[in-house]
Amino acid sequence: QKEYDYLIIGSGLFGAVFAHEATKLGKKCLVIDKRNHAGGNVYCKNIEGINVHQYGAHIFHTNDKHIWDYVNSFVEFNRYTNSPIANYKGEIFNLPFNMNTFYQLWGVRTPAEAKAKISAQINAVSGLATNVEEQALSLVGKDIYEKLIKGYTEKQWGRSAKDLPAFIIKRLPVRYTYDNNYFNDKYQGIPIGGYNKLIDALLHNIEVKLDTDFFVDRDKWSSMAEHIVFTGNIDQFYDFRYGKLEYRSLRFEHQVYDEYNHQGNAVVNYTEREIPYTRSIEHKHFEFGNQDKTVVTKEFPEEWKPGKEAYYPINDQHNDQLFSQYKALCEKEERVIFGGRLATYKYYDMHQIIASALTTVRKHFKEAVQV
Ligand code: FDA
Repeated sequence: QKEYDYLIIGSGLFGAVFAHEATKLGKKCLVIDKRNHAGGNVYCKNIEGINVHQYGAHIFHTNDKHIWDYVNSFVEFNRYTNSPIANYKGEIFNLPFNMNTFYQLWGVRTPAEAKAKISAQINAVSGLATNVEEQALSLVGKDIYEKLIKGYTEKQWGRSAKDLPAFIIKRLPVRYTYDNNYFNDKYQGIPIGGYNKLIDALLHNIEVKLDTDFFVDRDKWSSMAEHIVFTGNIDQFYDFRYGKLEYRSLRFEHQVYDEYNHQGNAVVNYTEREIPYTRSIEHKHFEFGNQDKTVVTKEFPEEWKPGKEAYYPINDQHNDQLFSQYKALCEKEERVIFGGRLATYKYYDMHQIIASALTTVRKHFKEAVQV
């Protein structure tokens, strides 16, 4: 008989939800995380009384009432609505592309005028677009592409838009109403008091060991539990036997200002190529903070190298093929469950990760679990 029923590697949303539900079912869980805090990428650090999103801005949104009720059963969410603005060479535009943006770009006031302007600019590409530039020009035309898409996308991926595959931009939603709400989902907000509250509530009364990397002594950790839930990097789990999966990374520069309100909005996108960061985040606005000071974070996209944080998977043919080889190995495992963004090599929003953790629980425990 082993000491624990489940060893959960990673205390991000996937690991925390799984641990919570398994514990509810009477299973004994141990959660380990190599970082010095729980919560994975939703973790916030308290600086000057402000919850600073350490791993990039996190805004919760979902259309799924079940998931919304689930997270609200742990912590109440506020009414924050994401309405980013774009700064292009000092000009300010509302996002997502909507009637406010079109007025700011061209002085047009009606949907019909905006539609006419966009269709006149759209480049009919014969056949399928072969790169991001062609794709964007065919969807929204020259002005929106040049001022709001080109520089931002090139910085994000570190390559010219002409060298980026068209699939990166599948759709570019255009809204012919004066609505600056970035998401179309029914529910959105930020946990009141920050994301750590959500994680703390999920992991309440569950044993968590921080600063503990599974790979430093995988035999010891594996032998402690009947089952393993792995939410780390899938290629590392298999000692990179087929090669390393590639990512895009980010670097964050946090700055405290002795100022009440620095940029007037939580999220400002810098869309020109010349400014090296893509976004500037003023965290207090996520929670309508009224602290005397403010914390602003600049987000710099970077090349990923082993050892750096893996943020965005590069789901091109090469990496997806590599991943499918690792996935085939996962499918043969009997006592290991793989979940979360790193083990499945895919970008997921928080609500999707929570949904997939709940589905995994349901399948794994086969009983009619009500989660
Ligand atoms: P996550 O990475 O959070 O957790 C994995 C954990 O495993 C980490 O804590 C890690 O330290 C640990 N671990 C890994 N290997 C280990 C090992 N060997 N031993 C021990 N521990 C190990 N979503 C959204 O809905 N709205 C948003 O606004 C955003 N914004 C956003 C911005 C940026 C920049 C990114 C990259 C992502 C987002 N997201 C998002 C997505 C969101 O971050 C994501 O859905 C969840 O955090 C994923 O949770 P996981 O548990 O899968 O991974």
